[in-house]
Amino acid sequence: MNKEKEIEEQKSYINKVKEMNKGKDLKYTILTMGCQLNENDSEKICGMAEEMGYTKTQNQKDADLAIFNTCCVRENAEDKLFGKLGELKKLKEQKGIIIAIGGCMMQEKHIIDKIKESYPFVDIVFGTHTLHKFPEDLYKSIQEKRKIEDVIDIDGEIYEGLPIKRDSNIKASVTIMNGCNNFCSYCIVPYVRGRERSRNPRDIINEVRELAKQGYKEITLLGQNVNSYLRVEKEKNIEFEEYEGVNSFATLLTAINKIDGIERIRFVSPHPKDFTDDVIDAIAKCEKVCKLVHLPLQSGNTKVLKEMNRKYTKEQYLNLVEKMKNRIPNLTLSTDIIVGFPGETDEEFEDTLDVVRKVKFEQVYMFIYSRRVGTPGDKMENQVPDDIKHVRFDKLKSLVESQIEENNKKYIGTIQKVLVEGESKNNKEMLTGRTDSNKVVIFEGNKDLINKIINLEIVSEHMWYLKGKEF
Ligand code: SAH
Ligand code: SF4
Ligand code: F3S
Repeated sequence: MNKEKEIEEQKSYINKVKEMNKGKDLKYTILTMGCQLNENDSEKICGMAEEMGYTKTQNQKDADLAIFNTCCVRENAEDKLFGKLGELKKLKEQKGIIIAIGGCMMQEKHIIDKIKESYPFVDIVFGTHTLHKFPEDLYKSIQEKRKIEDVIDIDGEIYEGLPIKRDSNIKASVTIMNGCNNFCSYCIVPYVRGRERSRNPRDIINEVRELAKQGYKEITLLGQNVNSYLRVEKEKNIEFEEYEGVNSFATLLTAINKIDGIERIRFVSPHPKDFTDDVIDAIAKCEKVCKLVHLPLQSGNTKVLKEMNRKYTKEQYLNLVEKMKNRIPNLTLSTDIIVGFPGETDEEFEDTLDVVRKVKFEQVYMFIYSRRVGTPGDKMENQVPDDIKHVRFDKLKSLVESQIEENNKKYIGTIQKVLVEGESKNNKEMLTGRTDSNKVVIFEGNKDLINKIINLEIVSEHMWYLKGKEF
């Protein structure tokens, strides 16, 4: 079936379920794990659920449908899912709640087997390539009262035109590509998300235009490797329609920069090996592109990087940072780091600390290496013992925290452009927003300022936020 037809078919299932649910005031919960791509997928799942007549609740006990959108990038997500399923068993027995689990973890056979064996009360299991078929799966589960397993192992297509219910009305995520071809040796993502494929320029530009019309101010472009947008298509001569001059990631940034109404553009994650000069120049010259760049390091040691299959050395990473700092005024950087990759010695870990000291990241997301079934890293013999991993993690954490404290002090007395996002969660009297460098700033102000970019003078700093006053 072609893609448009498939979406039409799913829309007819949406109508069928809506009809069945008429007048019933049904509710759903959704628990999303993992990265922003998964959050964006959840917004699509919510869009479908709401069109089928369900309204969202935070209270599990009120729910008639419980959805989980899972991640498997590290082990802890599994514990979380199985813990939650244990809690749901009672609700299933008491009121027949429908339980649907989707996302990356469902692409793993050993997980599906475990669900079948230990949690047979789960109604629907769907994968990353069958998300768009959620209406059909739900319809069949209700109508035919049977268990649905809808997971395919081939590379899925990109489906356009699904309903979407976004979490925010200020900031929106736009997925520009699916999958990953990099096969970093620690990472499960290429196995559960399939091969890289990019969305059409026209579909992306039209989505962003529509968001601008709806009043959104900030757009985050998402993909596992955003700066190789359209690369596979070009390499494999897969036809794509150039639209508004877009034929690469750099030209995509340039085209979105021209869309009236959008004031900020962010993107995650780029790969250092694909950071070509045209992308650096586009960031420098597009005034709406935020100057915070997330540049995943993973390790600062060349040998470990080679084992990780990252395709850059410590020196190449540092040179890239130097080049970017020279060409992009006010550049700030954030990164991801893994400690305790198989074979990593104390000395090699020191290189990671060395890069962190040199680059002075704005933000570092730190992870303890987690073995993932099916990846080359899992088969490596020289796994680092847990206690050593933890010592290294703590060392890195204290270095990062001391740098953040240092860095926060530099903000005091400066004027920052802040996109005001709403009331502060912890203090309803205050408003909260973010700087270009993605720092949280809280301040006293009138609610009219929400969804505007304003100037704030930074008056004090705290570990995870700054305080400002209107300037
Ligand atoms: N495509 C992105 C992000 C992938 S997942 C990128 O290349 O940067 C997000 C982060 O999780 C990774 O950057 C990595 O730091 C971390 N991660 C991935 N696999 C991991 C594993 N097996 N153990 C610990 N951390 C992992
Ligand atoms: Fe995983 Fe590497 Fe792909 Fe990122 S680039 S998703 S870390 S394999
Ligand atoms: Fe997790 Fe899947 Fe994202 S494994 S990190 S949710 S792509």
